[in-house]
Amino acid sequence: MTSQPPPQSDSAIVPDPGPADHRFRPGLDRIAAYRAGKPAPLGPGGRSFKLSSNENPYPPLPSVTRRLAEVLPASLARYPSIAAPEVTAALAERFEVAPENIVLGAGSVEVAAQLIHALTGPGDEVVFAWRSFEAYPILARVAGAVPVEVPLDADARHDLPAMAAAVTERTGVIFVCNPNNPTGTVVTRAELEAFMATVPERVLVVIDEAYVHFDRDPDSPSGIEFFRRYPNVVVLHTFSKAYGLAGLRIGYAIARPAVADELRKVALPFGVSRLAQEAAVGSLEAEAELGERIDELVRERARLFDGLLAAGLGPVPSQANFVWLPAGEESGRIAEAFERHGISARCFPGEGVRVTVGLSEENDAVLEAAAELVAAIV
Ligand SMILES: Cc1ncc(COP(=O)(O)O)c(C=O)c1O
Repeated sequence: MTSQPPPQSDSAIVPDPGPADHRFRPGLDRIAAYRAGKPAPLGPGGRSFKLSSNENPYPPLPSVTRRLAEVLPASLARYPSIAAPEVTAALAERFEVAPENIVLGAGSVEVAAQLIHALTGPGDEVVFAWRSFEAYPILARVAGAVPVEVPLDADARHDLPAMAAAVTERTGVIFVCNPNNPTGTVVTRAELEAFMATVPERVLVVIDEAYVHFDRDPDSPSGIEFFRRYPNVVVLHTFSKAYGLAGLRIGYAIARPAVADELRKVALPFGVSRLAQEAAVGSLEAEAELGERIDELVRERARLFDGLLAAGLGPVPSQANFVWLPAGEESGRIAEAFERHGISARCFPGEGVRVTVGLSEENDAVLEAAAELVAAIV
């Protein structure tokens, strides 16, 4: 057998034959692929800070890295366990639920997809606030469902009465993103309770708590508490944010067994790697240590918020690991100023800019960029 020489130049690349002739699913042309946070540009002195994806800025815990190193040789050539008994048991113990209540996925975004696929079909509706997590409308459309976007209120908070009013015969799932991405706002316990009283029990309410560990508002609802009280509540959690495991892809739902069983049917087989499972167990064992990091990020959030407020950029009070600047038409200019300082933030043109809380040095850089912006205006 002769081996192929590597391509020498662009001319060796198979030419693009133009539009494909395949019969793609109707509607696919109206779906935009998920847009990930921008990588960080190179700023002054070669510094570069990626604050565009709400990731955790800390390196992995040494105990987690050690654990991964131990299982690495045995984990690469073998499929992971689909049942994932260790992490499932650890989560069940942590939240005082049964293992049957836990469903894992390759990140909570995959679990969100499972929920939509299990509960909606073509023409069914998925209700959520807007703006919220960008994956919701994409996942709904991919499932053939109809995304129903209910505008946030004037304070960038969920308008739960309007969301309740948007429920129809076709509604299968409602997402309540708490704290909300990208605004960092939260619903209150009383608001969620009033909402649950009006939502029909056949409709599943998913409380997406990707950022719950950063929430310090005493009026915020506990998703687990609502799960215990309402048969149609599912809680969505992730190891990507507070636990710093975004690169390993593991998230989970806590749901009634009858719902959990259906989710497992639509789950991606072997989606959660052995490494992700091990890191999750190790992180649950090291929660106290992780808690110190989370507290530090919450302190940094307050400092970032105060600085952005003092700079006149009108940040919205946040309970997550990011801060939202509802800058409207100025959003592009703010994001560009950040980029000149080596910072990538998430810009939603015409709406606002979301900047992730980083380490103190990263937040200093954001505040420097903000000060420069203000100086340019006055
Ligand atoms: C609100 C919300 N839910 C879910 C996710 C998905 O996170 P992951 O798939 O990494 O668990 C994100 C990620 O940004 C998010 O912002």
